[in-house]
Amino acid sequence: MNWMKFKKLRSINFYYTSLDLINSLRLMLNAFIFLFKGVVISFSQKGTNRHSKIFAEQFQKKFKSIGAYTFASGRSGIYALLSAMNFRKQDEVLVTGYTCSAVAEPLLFLGIKPVYVDIDLKTFSMKPSLARKLITKRTKAIIIQHTYGRAANIKELLNIANEYDLKVIEDCALALGSRHNNQLLGTFGDASIFSFEVSKTISVGWGGMVVINKGNKLNQKVKSFASNQGSLSMLKSFRRLFQAGLSGILYMPQIYWFGGYIVSLLLRFGIFKKSSINFDRNKIPENYLKNPPDIQWSVLNGMFNKLDFINDKQKKQSVIYDQIIRLYRAKNDNCKSNDVALIRYPILVKNKKLFIELFRKNGIEVGQWFSHPISSSDDCHIYDYTLGSCETAEYVANHIINLPTHQKLIQKDSNLICELLEYFFNKYPEERVFFEKNLSN
Ligand SMILES: Cc1ncc(COP(=O)(O)O)c(C=O)c1O
Repeated sequence: MNWMKFKKLRSINFYYTSLDLINSLRLMLNAFIFLFKGVVISFSQKGTNRHSKIFAEQFQKKFKSIGAYTFASGRSGIYALLSAMNFRKQDEVLVTGYTCSAVAEPLLFLGIKPVYVDIDLKTFSMKPSLARKLITKRTKAIIIQHTYGRAANIKELLNIANEYDLKVIEDCALALGSRHNNQLLGTFGDASIFSFEVSKTISVGWGGMVVINKGNKLNQKVKSFASNQGSLSMLKSFRRLFQAGLSGILYMPQIYWFGGYIVSLLLRFGIFKKSSINFDRNKIPENYLKNPPDIQWSVLNGMFNKLDFINDKQKKQSVIYDQIIRLYRAKNDNCKSNDVALIRYPILVKNKKLFIELFRKNGIEVGQWFSHPISSSDDCHIYDYTLGSCETAEYVANHIINLPTHQKLIQKDSNLICELLEYFFNKYPEERVFFEKNLSN
């Protein structure tokens, strides 16, 4: 079959999937208003935090928590939580060995040792039996990551945490709105974190949330940490709002490949900034713990109000893919389709390059979350990860592909992706064998 048969005009990508044209323009307009106010009215003007409070209150209501606080990012939320939990240097925290470097950063800034636990192939999250083996006298907490929106093996991990008196932080950066046994992920542990970085379920490019479920003391400390965050400077605020707004436009499906090229140029010339940092454990970057401009929380709040709709789309799209390739869910008791809202749909393929190329030629970007055990770094050792220590994670990193599930997909996109999936597995029988072998593990 000729690949070109599938050719089409729209392009599908993963970024700013909840940011529409109106909100993009709103962010850009506010960037200029911010600049104008800063320059004309007062250089030292202190912004309000009205929208940040409203957004946090909405979160608190949805998660029925005792507190919810906005932060500069998910990682700064982890930093705040670990600081509030009073861990000492050399204390150990169990972390999924298949994660974003952003999770390791705050630990290392605080001198805490990340202990990476390998994953299982069903959940792509920490394997409880391995977690148990890695507990020492110094272990103080466990960060349970719900990878792709699929629940980690939460019951067993909570039992272990109880047994060893460990604090539990749920990492829900990839799991906003997803559930386990009809209970929202993020409500099981002592606290949880969420991210609104560019590729997340709802996003304006930056931002994080901490939700506190238990512990009045912890709640007070995180609250005080959150209210003492400084604010970004006027120019940095301007740049962020402008970058988010313009990116929202450039990443629209109608112009994505061209837009993506422009974004890469803007990044190369330093006009746009990446959310990742040049990591040096001895130096916390200047803006790491600084609250973004308040308007971003207003836009996020609007998106949060549509969360059920977004999650519904994620669920429906995953069911469509399931039907094509008879995926994990059928095999996985942990994943009831009504519960699981996948931010991206993971599959393992033998030859990633082949798959990526086929989809790219047809205008569909596929993801590689996570392409390294501590993504996206070839230098996992700078995060104290020893190569070979999480074998399954490394295997998955070499074979993972993610498909889009987001709300900007239209019926035509979904049909095309399914056609391509069928084509791929039919044309390359060895891929089907590989796929099914991994399913049965
Ligand atoms: C699993 C996971 N946890 C935490 C984070 C941190 O989020 P942020 O980028 O907002 O710091 C990320 C970031 O992408 C992530 O993928």
